[in-house]
Amino acid sequence: MKRITLTQYLIEQQRLGGNVTPELRLLIEVVARACKAISHAVNKGALADMLGTAGSENVQGEAQKKLDIISNDILIEANEWGGHLAAMVSEEMEHPHLMPEHYPSGAYLLLIDPLDGSSNIDVNVSIGTIFSVLPCPAGTDPVGERSFLQPGSNQVAAGFAVYGPATMLVLTVGNGTVAFTLDREVGSFILTEPAVSISADTAEFAINMSNSRNWTAPIARYIDECLAGKTGVRGKDFNMRWVASMVADVYRIISRGGIFMYPADSKYKEGRLRLMYEANPMAFVIEQAGGAATDGARRILDIEPSALHQRVGVVLGSRNEVEQVRQYHL
Ligand code: F6P
Ligand code: MN
Repeated sequence: MKRITLTQYLIEQQRLGGNVTPELRLLIEVVARACKAISHAVNKGALADMLGTAGSENVQGEAQKKLDIISNDILIEANEWGGHLAAMVSEEMEHPHLMPEHYPSGAYLLLIDPLDGSSNIDVNVSIGTIFSVLPCPAGTDPVGERSFLQPGSNQVAAGFAVYGPATMLVLTVGNGTVAFTLDREVGSFILTEPAVSISADTAEFAINMSNSRNWTAPIARYIDECLAGKTGVRGKDFNMRWVASMVADVYRIISRGGIFMYPADSKYKEGRLRLMYEANPMAFVIEQAGGAATDGARRILDIEPSALHQRVGVVLGSRNEVEQVRQYHL
């Protein structure tokens, strides 16, 4: 088998003349290199004192884990000096992080969830890193929060790494979705899924069932009908999976189809997941693989954001099931 590295893939994409510029190529390579360093830290676990809480809280009042902070630091340090970024936004930081003045400022904005699935860190279950790249709007000087408030349809690249039994990198630059597997000995991401394609139909759903008493009527109806199985209106049995790391649940969906839901409900009125660095990048990856991503009713990528850390309901995956949920919202 001919081995195509991430570098080769990006150079080929650049030659095709789509979103990939030399600067964006550098950006993606730098993020991928940071993910390798995070993967290494995750793998060391207790041997390198990586587990447990840091004793601090992030902007949303969630307890930060040591690995949340380490991953955030790795991504910032890796991206500061290359001249490809104007600023970064992270789940772990309240305000945008501007690049140091002694480095040139670049044309892109990077948004990250440095370590997704934090509740799984200490229990040796897959976790990951999510990233989204937006163009820095011309004439926004100084670069600040407003520069980032663009709909997800403006993304020029997005993806995520999963630190699981293998470390994988899923990527879209707007020309389909591809996946790479980390070859640890060589230190390269190797293209192992050149054309991810999500089946339109599925019989597998992912939702945190413990929230069921808080669901809205359309979500409750959809899940009830799945649970009724062969004897209900759907006429087929459904299976359920919930890893509780979005990266792992979405990776399963791009591998074998499925529908993933973290809907807005009476407890999480705006939804639980963050629009700018969780829902948007995942929606871009899913759509580029032939799937669909909504907040239940609206296409995620069309949502005009009003705040950096805003939350949103998420329903994504196999397009016929996502459409079924949307129909129940009409
Ligand atoms: O980042 C938020 C997150 O950890 C996602 O990765 C995951 O899908 C979700 O929260 C899990 O939520 P819960 O703890 O309600 O199962
Ligand atoms: Mn997350």
